[in-house]
Amino acid sequence: MKILLTGRNGQVGWELERALAPLGEVVATDRSTLDLAREDQIRSVVRAVKPDVILNAAAYTAVDKAESEPELAMRINGFAPGVLAEEAKRLGALLVHYSTDYVFDGKKATPYVEEDEPNPLNVYGRTKLEGERAVRAAGSRHLILRTSWVYAARGRNFFLAIAAKVRASERLRVVDDQTGVPTPAALLAASSAAILRRAEPDASGNLYHLVPAGWTTWCGFARAIVAALGLEAEVEAIASDQYPTRAVRPRHTVLDNRRVGATFGLVLPAWQTPLADCVQQYGAAARRSS
Ligand SMILES: NC(=O)c1ccc[n+]([C@@H]2O[C@H](COP(=O)([O-])OP(=O)(O)OC[C@H]3O[C@@H](n4cnc5c(N)ncnc54)[C@H](OP(=O)(O)O)[C@@H]3O)[C@@H](O)[C@H]2O)c1
Repeated sequence: MKILLTGRNGQVGWELERALAPLGEVVATDRSTLDLAREDQIRSVVRAVKPDVILNAAAYTAVDKAESEPELAMRINGFAPGVLAEEAKRLGALLVHYSTDYVFDGKKATPYVEEDEPNPLNVYGRTKLEGERAVRAAGSRHLILRTSWVYAARGRNFFLAIAAKVRASERLRVVDDQTGVPTPAALLAASSAAILRRAEPDASGNLYHLVPAGWTTWCGFARAIVAALGLEAEVEAIASDQYPTRAVRPRHTVLDNRRVGATFGLVLPAWQTPLADCVQQYGAAARRSS
């Protein structure tokens, strides 16, 4: 199997490059070799590589900055996935594309299932929803995997932000009225590889919510991170309006993962379980740099 991967330096892309290696030849690209803002380059790279599978892990992920760069965010998140899907169709390749819980408005009290109607509240969410639509419209074989609150021991994410603040003995005030599911990039990558091992996605749909089980708030996640690091620090719970951001965040975006589990035989752990692995990698990275 020949696999073309975008976004190799991102949280998910970095893990995917490693998780996909046993499946075949992985051609991993970054912004310098495949810029999603350049349609001509997307087409020429896909035509040169001729992959059996394309995994699109690259995206414009700066949720607040997207409010002031909507055209660029739309080009990368909304338009480019459709171009990848058109090229996948031309080759008969499968496109695996990642999307987000922020396609929802967060007003539902129970977990979101794949049939729920999206209604994004911010530019990032709107551009990601457009990307999903563009992939579907191109008519290629595809899997859209929606996930949420991605973290890893490298990159830019909530886990590292909290870890840095605790170590610097900074005061921790964290939003406690937004719920979601923290998802390690490594779990996403391993699950994506497991999905690819199943020959054909079955007929129950090609949109899946891929997150661990359970849910928490950002504050609950911060407290779990502090505990997993074996440190002691008080985390003060605050309301969203005490932490204003440029982009409005949806309040409750817990994704229901039952479809992906049932379709691909995946057993997804409780969100707390993989936190220990991330802490271990974080410790190893800290030891390497000291
Ligand atoms: N992070 C989250 O909390 C979260 C939540 C839900 C869904 N998702 C989705 O999960 C997927 C993976 O996200 P992630 O967390 O791994 O994001 P990430 O760590 O921010 O990585 C995104 C990658 O995309 C690359 N990129 C940005 N613009 C590009 C362009 N024009 N051409 C080529 N590459 C470009 C970035 O390259 P540079 O390093 O050069 O900037 C970066 O390596 C995305 O589809 C995202 O929307 C993420």
